[in-house]
Amino acid sequence: MKVLRTVGELRKAMEGHREAGQTIGLVPTMGALHAGHISLMKRARDENDIVVASVFVNPTQFNNPQDLQTYPRTEKEDCAALTEAGVDYAFIPSVEEIYPEPDNRVFDLGPVAEVMEGAMRPGHFNGVAQIVSKLFGYVNPTRAYFGEKDFQQIAVIRRMAEIEGFGFDIVACPIVREPDGLALSSRNVRLTPEQRAVAPAIHRVLAESLEKAGSMTVAEVKKWVVEKIDSYPFMTTEYYEIVNPLTMQPADEWMTPDGPAVGCVTVYCGDVRLIDNITYSKK
Ligand code: PAF
Repeated sequence: MKVLRTVGELRKAMEGHREAGQTIGLVPTMGALHAGHISLMKRARDENDIVVASVFVNPTQFNNPQDLQTYPRTEKEDCAALTEAGVDYAFIPSVEEIYPEPDNRVFDLGPVAEVMEGAMRPGHFNGVAQIVSKLFGYVNPTRAYFGEKDFQQIAVIRRMAEIEGFGFDIVACPIVREPDGLALSSRNVRLTPEQRAVAPAIHRVLAESLEKAGSMTVAEVKKWVVEKIDSYPFMTTEYYEIVNPLTMQPADEWMTPDGPAVGCVTVYCGDVRLIDNITYSKK
């Protein structure tokens, strides 16, 4: 695996592969890689001639300086994991390389970016759009891969791609979970052993809510999920929204015009912010 540090090196390498008619899969990450990220690398490996992973803790998407400061940075381990996963290039730039001057672009992301994470973390999605649009421009991939744990982020990235005219495939990949159901996240390492023992309740409650959906309304299930999660020690639900899977707007019915409704949750477990989601599809 080659490690590239500059945009110039990355553009040059990608041009060569495109000229040779090869397909390119891009997997953007912020590092601290876990099995969820590796599943994206493997999918990209299966579907493309060349796989590029970026590892960049993007400052413009953090609205909390403390969160940016404490975000885990594990470059050595990340490179070992990417090599093992058969990635061809790791793009690991400095902040100065990506932002030689401030990025003042404001994307018109519309309603998909205004609710849930967009409402709780002002500026977050604009920062995601800034970095992902830059990466898309440098690499011009055949396909780009994102995990469905960040369900709303995928909708926002699709919207950014539409605005910017990126016509390639944006591939959404399933959430990878620990055996006890906790969605894999780079933040899980910050949980104390006591919090880690409780955190799987998030997925357990969401899974139980699938059964409730047979007999309860959307509003009733929303209330039930929040009360149930908040009954566990350390846990405070920030929001639980049941939404249309494309527009991210609140759903009134379990089946929306765009497919089964999706429940998206953010929970503080102590001071660690965890997110998860579940699709209310009929079994
Ligand atoms: O999901 C992430 O890790 C980040 O938001 C992304 C897409 C790599 C952009 O920094």
